[in-house]
Amino acid sequence: DQKINILSIESSCDDTAAAVLCNGKILSNIVATQEVHQQYGGVVPELASRAHQQNIVPVIHQALAKANIDKKDLSAIAFTRGPGLMGSLLVGTSFAKSLAMGLNIPLIEVNHMQAHILAHFIEEEGFDKPEFPFLAMTISGGHTQIVKVTDYFKMEVIGETLDDAVGEAFDKSAKILGIAYPGGPLIDKYAREGDPKAFKFPKPKVDGLNFSFSGFKTAVLYFMQRETKKDPEFIEKNLKDICASIQYTIIGILMDKLKKAVKETGITQVAIGGGVSANSGIRQALRDAEGKWGWKCYIPKFEYTTDNAAMIGIAGYHKYLKQDFADFDITAQSRYKF
Ligand code: KG4
Ligand code: ZN
Repeated sequence: DQKINILSIESSCDDTAAAVLCNGKILSNIVATQEVHQQYGGVVPELASRAHQQNIVPVIHQALAKANIDKKDLSAIAFTRGPGLMGSLLVGTSFAKSLAMGLNIPLIEVNHMQAHILAHFIEEEGFDKPEFPFLAMTISGGHTQIVKVTDYFKMEVIGETLDDAVGEAFDKSAKILGIAYPGGPLIDKYAREGDPKAFKFPKPKVDGLNFSFSGFKTAVLYFMQRETKKDPEFIEKNLKDICASIQYTIIGILMDKLKKAVKETGITQVAIGGGVSANSGIRQALRDAEGKWGWKCYIPKFEYTTDNAAMIGIAGYHKYLKQDFADFDITAQSRYKF
């Protein structure tokens, strides 16, 4: 039995992460979340890049130590090539290249969005893996896509946002309500105690399987401006109902398109991934879909929803099995379609 040990590095946005996987099983999975951005209400690219520089060595040391693995036993280094912030990607890319060169082992480049989907293939007790073909909806602060997955690296984007990502719809709505960045998790928390039908927000009309969220945040803004003019304490008094109504509308938008995708493709296996897949409402909507419409849904563990290196590692492992290695002159790509 050959042991394939992959060290993986993720640095596409504001999390510096490293993991070690042995034959697709996690030995360690370390994330250093950058706190500097909170005071700015969003990720500041220049600060993210600097923080990656500071974090990357200790994070990789921790990942190797926790996995109890010596560098000389690594089979390959996998890294996020893109999409993401260029200054952030460059830190992980340069580090991965140097380390693979120094250790004289193969280098594997990974597409971050594919990795969010492949996270479902991490070897884990009690978790079913999707069977091909399946649909994957990747929902995060940077992306909103519906992807038809016919094999590990055979993926086709069949729908995506034309403007803002769904995570931005959460975060920008939160900002309007005076909730600190990133507001998604807090909207989720308040929503659990509110009435989802208390207020009505419009759903955008977009053709096909594509999404649009920029009009949604504007609708939220105008609604709050109108109501706080009548009652300055409107938001404080109704915060839970507002959050529940916002979340209900966003989930409705996502589920409408997912239903349409299932209908058009005839594929009833559906997986979700990305930061917004941590949302309790979307998780429940998918569980309900199993009973209501006979779908089979794959909902990731919380630690694999937001950015992490374990998902880069599992993608790297499946490329390793195909001996799909990168050249050492490879560069980071901030826009990286697949
Ligand atoms: O995947 P991720 O960590 O980073 C990106 O690649 O963007 O996603 C972060 C996004 C943020 O917009 C955050 O507000 C959102 O995921 N998010 C949530 C929840 N947890 C994280 N949105 C709604 N409900 C949640 N529970
Ligand atoms: Zn992500």
